[in-house]
Amino acid sequence: MCGIVGIVGASPVAEQIVESLRRLEYRGYDSAGVATLENGRLTRVRAEGKLKNLAAKLQEHPLKGAVGIGHTRWATHGRPTENNAHPHATDRVAVVHNGIIENFRELREELTARGHVFKTETDTEVVAHLVTDEMQKGHSARDAVAAALPRLRGAFALAFIFNGEPDLLIGARQGAPLAVGWGEGEMYLGSDALALAPFTNTITYLDDGDWVVLTPKGAQFFDASGLPARRAKVQTQASAFLVDKGNHRHFMAKEIHEQPEVVGRTLAHYLDMSSGAVRLPFELPFDPKTLTRITISACGTAYYAGLIAKYWFERYARLPVEIDVASEFRYRDAPMVDGGLMIVVSQSGETADTLAALRYAKEQGQHILSVVNVQTSTIARESDVVAATLAGPEIGVASTKAFTCQLAVLACLAVGFGSARGALDATREAELVADLISMPGLMAEAFKREPQIEALARDLAKAKDVLYLGRGTNYPLALEGALKLKEISYIHAEGYAAGELKHGPIALIDEAMPVIVLAPFDAVFEKTVSNMQEVAARGGKIVLIGDARAKHESAVPFFATIAMPDMAPDFAAIPYAVPVQMLAYHTAVVMGKDVDQPRNLAKSVTVE
Ligand code: G6P
Repeated sequence: MCGIVGIVGASPVAEQIVESLRRLEYRGYDSAGVATLENGRLTRVRAEGKLKNLAAKLQEHPLKGAVGIGHTRWATHGRPTENNAHPHATDRVAVVHNGIIENFRELREELTARGHVFKTETDTEVVAHLVTDEMQKGHSARDAVAAALPRLRGAFALAFIFNGEPDLLIGARQGAPLAVGWGEGEMYLGSDALALAPFTNTITYLDDGDWVVLTPKGAQFFDASGLPARRAKVQTQASAFLVDKGNHRHFMAKEIHEQPEVVGRTLAHYLDMSSGAVRLPFELPFDPKTLTRITISACGTAYYAGLIAKYWFERYARLPVEIDVASEFRYRDAPMVDGGLMIVVSQSGETADTLAALRYAKEQGQHILSVVNVQTSTIARESDVVAATLAGPEIGVASTKAFTCQLAVLACLAVGFGSARGALDATREAELVADLISMPGLMAEAFKREPQIEALARDLAKAKDVLYLGRGTNYPLALEGALKLKEISYIHAEGYAAGELKHGPIALIDEAMPVIVLAPFDAVFEKTVSNMQEVAARGGKIVLIGDARAKHESAVPFFATIAMPDMAPDFAAIPYAVPVQMLAYHTAVVMGKDVDQPRNLAKSVTVE
C-alpha cells in the first residue's frame, strides 16, 4: 500500500520526508521518491527498491526546498521502476498518489489528444496532466485541483506541490486515508498519524471527499462539493502504537472505512491493472485445467466468503464446488478425488476447525490453497500455496475488511482459473477485471450512505428479530449480514435465500419485523420483487439495499431504501458488504454495545 508524506515550512524538508516515509515502510513498497522546489522550480529524486536507495541518491543530490512531497510506491499500474516511481510531474505540478484512478485510460486518451505527452505506465500521471491542463486554461493551482478532482474516479489519496509556489501543498482524500499534521510554522500531510508522529501529535483527519490547502501557517479544508469545511483537531499517541483507531470510535469503524484501500491493494496483488488480466503472484503446483472439483472449507465470516466464491468458481471457471463449514467437514469422512483442490479461508490462519479440515484434505491427497490474512500463521505454513489477503491487522472481533479482501482474492482466483481453463476468453476476462478494479471506488461511494444508515440503525435497534434476504451471491451476503448483526448487537437475525422465504420464515413476518433485502437490479431481481411483495402483504418493514433501478422498478412499499451506485452484478457482493457492515455497526453503537469486543466471542478460535 503506497505511503504519502508532504511538508510545507521554512527550512529544507527532504530529510524529514524520508524520515517520515520510514514510518510508512510497514505498508509495503517497492520504490520511493521525493519532490521539492529548489529556487521555485520542481525537482525530483526517485529510486527503485528500498528507502536506503533513495537516501543514497539524496546524499549525492541533496534537495533543498522547504516544501515537498514523498512517496513509497506499492506498484499497481506499471512495474516498480524508477520511471514509474512517484512523484509524477509536469513543468507545473508534482503529485504523489495512493490508490487507483479507475478512469485513467479515458483521461489519458483525452489529454493525449490535447497534446499532453505521457512518460510512465502509471495511472497517477494522468492526475499531474489533468491539473496541468486546468492550469494551462489560466486557473490557479488551487482552482486547477478543485476542477480536476471531480473528474477522477476510484479510491485514492493525493498530495500536490506546484512550480513557483513555495508556500503551497494540497492534499485530497477519496476512499484512501490522509491526515493533516499541525506544526509551528510548518504543516504536514501523511497517510496516517504514524507518518506524522516525528513532527506532531496534533492531527486533523480528512473526511472522505475532502481536500485541503496547506501553507506554513495553517490549513483550509474543503468538502467534496468544494465548500469550505471545518474539521476538528485531535491529539494522537501514534508514536507509541503501530495500530491506532485514527479518528474512529472503534476499530470496527476504522476497518470498515479502510476497505477501499485494502481491497484495492489486494486486487493490485492479483491483477495486472494495466493490461486488464489476472496475474497470480505465485506458481500453482497444479494445472487448473486438470481440476474436476474444488472443495472450500472455513468458519464464520470466512465461510460466507467461501460461499460467495462458490458462485464465482462455478460461473467463471466452470468447476463444481463443494463447500462446508470446517467443523462439519472435518468429521464427515468426505470422499475426495485424488489431486483435487482444497481451498481454506481464514483471517487468522489459526482457526482450529479450519486447520483440521486442511489436514484432513491433505491426507486425502488434495492440493491445499489457503486464503489467509496472517501469512506467518499455521494454516499458511501447512498450505501448498498461500493466497494472501492484504487487509493489514484486523482488530475488531467482527470481521469486515478481512472478509472483503477474501472476496477480492477469491474473485481473482475464479477469473484466473476461468481463463486458464479456457472457460473465459480474453475479452470477458478483461471485462471482469475492469469490474474488479472498480470495486474500491464503489465501496468508497457506499460510505456516502452512512448518515442515512446511522438513522436507520435507531429503528433497527428496537427490533427483536431481523431477517436478511438475498439471491445469488447476495444470499451468502444475507447470511453474513445476519451474522454481523447478531455478533455485535445481540439482536436475533437470520439470513435466508429469498426463494426460501415461503418455506418457513414467512411465518415470522409481522409489523414488528424488519426485513433487509439485498437486491441490486440483476438477472434475479424480478424474483426477489415477488418475495418482497409477500413480505409487504404481511406488513413486514422492508429495507431495500439496492440500486436506483431496483427501487424504481419494484413498486413495493419500502420502510427505507439504501441506494447503492449502479454496478455490474458480478462482484456486487463486495461493495454491498459495506452498507451491511455499517448497519450492524451503527445498530450496536446505538444500543451501547461493546462493538470491538462483543460478549462471548473471540477473534481467533483455536479450540474446537
Ligand atoms: C471467529 C471470529 C470471526 C471469524 C471466524 C473465523 O468466530 O470472530 O470473525 O470469521 O472466527 O476466523 P478465521 O480467522 O479463520 O477467519
